[in-house]
Amino acid sequence: MPKSPFTQRVLNIQASATVSAFARAGELRRQGVDLISLVAGEPDFETPEHIRDAAIRAIKAGHTRYTNPASGIPELKDAICDKFERDNDLYYDPSQIVVTCGAKQTIFDAIIALIEEGDEAIIPAPYWTSYADQVRLMGGNPIIVPTTQDSDFCMTARQLQDAITPRTKFVLLNSPCNPTGTVYTRENMNALADVIAGANVYVIADEIYEKLLYEDAEHVSIAALLPELADRTLTVNGVSKSYAMTGWRVGYGAGPQNLIDLMIKVQTQETTNTCSISQYAALEALTGPQDCVEVMRRAYVKRRNQIVSRLNRMPGVSCNMPRGAFYVFPDISEYIGKSSSCGCIDSDVALCNFLLEEARVACVPGTGFGAPGYLRFSYSASPEQIARGMDRIEAALTALYIKDDHS
Ligand SMILES: Cc1ncc(COP(=O)(O)O)c(C=O)c1O
Repeated sequence: MPKSPFTQRVLNIQASATVSAFARAGELRRQGVDLISLVAGEPDFETPEHIRDAAIRAIKAGHTRYTNPASGIPELKDAICDKFERDNDLYYDPSQIVVTCGAKQTIFDAIIALIEEGDEAIIPAPYWTSYADQVRLMGGNPIIVPTTQDSDFCMTARQLQDAITPRTKFVLLNSPCNPTGTVYTRENMNALADVIAGANVYVIADEIYEKLLYEDAEHVSIAALLPELADRTLTVNGVSKSYAMTGWRVGYGAGPQNLIDLMIKVQTQETTNTCSISQYAALEALTGPQDCVEVMRRAYVKRRNQIVSRLNRMPGVSCNMPRGAFYVFPDISEYIGKSSSCGCIDSDVALCNFLLEEARVACVPGTGFGAPGYLRFSYSASPEQIARGMDRIEAALTALYIKDDHS
């Protein structure tokens, strides 16, 4: 076999499971298939009008060049520092902020700066699809810590302690979590903080769903818990999810000066800056009226209640009530091994394909999040879409359940 001209690093990783499922759903829709997609990792709301207006003003004012500095316009960095102080009890100098093309780039640039060949990164599963492959791309080893539905998908301090080795470079924490909607409590976070404080490791705290919290859930930034952690934590956030701005591509990170300086250096060789106009829009998002966030949050609460109660009424499906973000992550492992018109359902991936073919509903298999036996549904869809999607899934799964029990 001739040697591949391409790098093993890239050949070894998968395309993002969520982006691929999203593309497949879009393709079927373009073919005229009556598909209900519960795939999207993005709000179905329009970006609020005052934010869009700010972008139009930025264009008209001629903010159409590379930004200076490339790591974020000073007004936006100031607004980000104010946000961290106001919401998270975190105090940064603007020089400790980097603004990037989405939080995805913030995380990747940190991984580029931190991971050497053979280094380890601790990632609790289920995890957002990009973390592990970004670590692999840099030659590192993701150390996946499995969590269970019974513990509401929380990594315990004991699990974390056991996973740390001399090669551990960082621990990834994502609360509220995509795909489970888990929100770590203050008690959980304190216990993890104590372990991390006693180890020589960094933390990447992905807090992008911070504003989407339900009932009494509280958002806790780990960097604010212990002073020594602030020096080793990159806190990641962005405007994509809270302000329905996924297409604008603005994320940001705040952390120790030496790490941020390296990330800024990487960015100068990579994207230079995120879109100038988007930066003015993000400035308006962070400094303008905030009631739009609450309007969207309230809508998500209703949709979450709707989808969780529907899923839990289906045979063989069990779903926790998430306390944040806009995803549900039901256990569907009872369906594995059942036979369908599409052949044996031997995995969550096969069940996902079956639902696409039979029910014309798109979702993402848990395998893409390091958790086989589950499916992820986004409830960032209209209540009508959710209701129709659940009707179809219920019919398809019930038929599968009954057929198999009688065969
Ligand atoms: C947990 C998590 N982190 C980061 C991101 C990246 O967001 P963006 O690059 O749009 O800011 C996403 C997007 O789906 C996410 O779910």
